Amino acid sequence: MKLLFILRVFKTSIGRKQLMAITGLLLSLFMLIHLAENLLLFKGEEWYNGWVNILITNPLTIYLEIGLLITFIIHIFMGMWVRYENWINSKVRKYETINWQGGRTIGSATMLYTAIILLIYIIFHLLHFKFTDHSMGFYQMVTSAFRNKTFVLIYITGSIALALHLSHGFQSAFQTLGINHEKYNIFIKIASYLVALMMVGFAMISLYYFFGFDIKADIEYNNLVEMTIE
Ligand code: HEM
Repeated sequence: MKLLFILRVFKTSIGRKQLMAITGLLLSLFMLIHLAENLLLFKGEEWYNGWVNILITNPLTIYLEIGLLITFIIHIFMGMWVRYENWINSKVRKYETINWQGGRTIGSATMLYTAIILLIYIIFHLLHFKFTDHSMGFYQMVTSAFRNKTFVLIYITGSIALALHLSHGFQSAFQTLGINHEKYNIFIKIASYLVALMMVGFAMISLYYFFGFDIKADIEYNNLVEMTIE
C-alpha cells in the first residue's frame, strides 16, 4: 500500500515537484543546523571538538547520515527530472512565454548553475573534512584549512551559491506545497531571503580564520590576563 503511494508520487509531475520541495526544505533545515554547529568554532577548540565527538560517537548519527544522503539523492534526481520535463514542455509550447511565479530574480535564473556548483562543492567539502584523517582534531583541521587562500575562495563560492539557491528555492518550495496566501506570502519571501543571508555565514567563518582574527583574539586575551596578574 505504502509502496503504491510512493510510486504514485513519483509518477505524477506535481508529485515529483512536491518531493523536490519537501526534500529541499529538509536540506535547508540541515544547513541551518550545520551552520549553528560550525558557529561553535568561535567558542573554541574544546567546544567544537566536544560537539563533533558527541555526533560521531552517537549510534543514531549513521541513520541520520543515511537519511540525509537519501534526501540529497531524491532532491537532485527530482530536480533533474523536473528540469527535463520543463525543457521538453518549452519545446512543445515553443511560442508560449514562461511566467516565473514571484518574478525572475538572480536566484531563480541561476538555479541550475548554483545546483551544479553546490554538488561539486559538497563533494570537495566531504573529501576534505569528512573522509579524511581526523587525528589532529576537527577544530585544528577546519581552522588550519581556512588559512589557505584557495580553500577560502572555494568556501566563499559555495556559500554564495547556497545563498542564491535558497533565496529562490525556499519560497518556491512553499508555493509548490500550496502554503501560500496573499496575506503571508510577504513573510515567506522575507524568511526566504533571511535564510539565504544566513548561508553567507559559512563564508564569514572561513574569512574569520583566514584573516587570523582568532589569533588576534587569543593575543588580546593573553595580554589582558598578563596585565591582570601583574
Ligand atoms: C564554514 C563552513 C563549514 C564547515 C567548517 C563545515 C564543517 C564540516 C565538518 C567538520 C564535517 C564533518 C563532520 C563529520 O565527520 O561527521 C562536515 C560535514 C558535512 N558538511 Fe559541512 N561545513 C561547512 C559548510 C558546509 C556547507 C556550506 C555545506 C553544504 C552546502 C556542508 C555540507 C556538509 C555535509 C552534507 C556534511 C556531511 C554530514 C554528515 O555526514 O554528518 N557543509 N562539515
